[in-house]
Amino acid sequence: MNEHKHKMTTEEVRVYWGKKNIPQQWYSKKDPFTRQWFNELAYKRYSRYYPYLKDELEFENHRGEEILEIGCGIGTDLAEFAQGGAVVTGTDLGPDQVMLSKLNLDLRGLPYKEITEANVENLPFPDGSFDLVYSIGVIHHVANPEKAISEIFRVLKPDGKAIVLVYARGWKHYLKRCLVHGILKGKWFRYGFDWRKVRSEVSEVHGSSPRTEIWTKREVRKLFKQFPTLEIKKRRLGEFFEYKPYNTVMFPAFVRNILFLLGLESLIGENWFVKADKTKWPKEETFFGVWWRHY
Ligand SMILES: C[S@@+](CC[C@H](N)C(=O)[O-])C[C@H]1O[C@@H](n2cnc3c(N)ncnc32)[C@H](O)[C@@H]1O
Repeated sequence: MNEHKHKMTTEEVRVYWGKKNIPQQWYSKKDPFTRQWFNELAYKRYSRYYPYLKDELEFENHRGEEILEIGCGIGTDLAEFAQGGAVVTGTDLGPDQVMLSKLNLDLRGLPYKEITEANVENLPFPDGSFDLVYSIGVIHHVANPEKAISEIFRVLKPDGKAIVLVYARGWKHYLKRCLVHGILKGKWFRYGFDWRKVRSEVSEVHGSSPRTEIWTKREVRKLFKQFPTLEIKKRRLGEFFEYKPYNTVMFPAFVRNILFLLGLESLIGENWFVKADKTKWPKEETFFGVWWRHY
């Protein structure tokens, strides 16, 4: 695919993701910035939009540990870790996100060590500071994702772990971005055959993100090449399957249940969920290995 013709800057990313574009705000119609509003955002995030996040992020399993979030947005996940007893630090590129995350935790009476503006490409923390670094829906938007991942690696303790969600090249890419917007709506031609521009334009709720990457499993593995232990899987069938996009409709339950039963989430899911350890842990035994040695 073509290189993006327009070279975007971190400042453009900061401006784009501020104010009305900070995700999750549209989940609740309650009075913004109240405790009730934050509570509803959290409820909808974990019950409707990302039902698997509570399991995957291990909120309850890091009591007393030092935890860092990259791109904390409105602070919903950070609050969940604080609730679980972790010592939490949040970072985001934008001042609005920092202010909202602090407000979120303050209103809910939850403690935090620090919530501050920082670019993941240049984290203001010494080497080996954190037991867990996590980042949900951020790394595919940054100017230099390789640098971002090597910074995450650097600030982790030697036995630390990273949990990162990034966009996958799933059904949404081929059907919505390539076929509908790229070909049928003619954007691929209008944008000089620049696929990156097409997908950046339609990937987010408010459109026209300065940069949105989507990666294959091989590309994700390459990005995390410093980490000796890696688990990568696809999650989230996404809009129409798990939630109503833009408050419209959902496919009937039987369609969704069939797709889940067939295990299609692992094939056509729209997000990669990456769990990466800084230590090389022994590989899990294969079924045949166990069978041969123990039975
Ligand atoms: C799609 S939002 C995700 C927010 C939150 N993690 C969530 O799941 O709702 C992307 C966030 O990443 C932040 N971000 C983008 N580039 C960044 C960078 N280089 N360093 C730190 N944060 C960044 C944006 O400011 C924005 O708040």
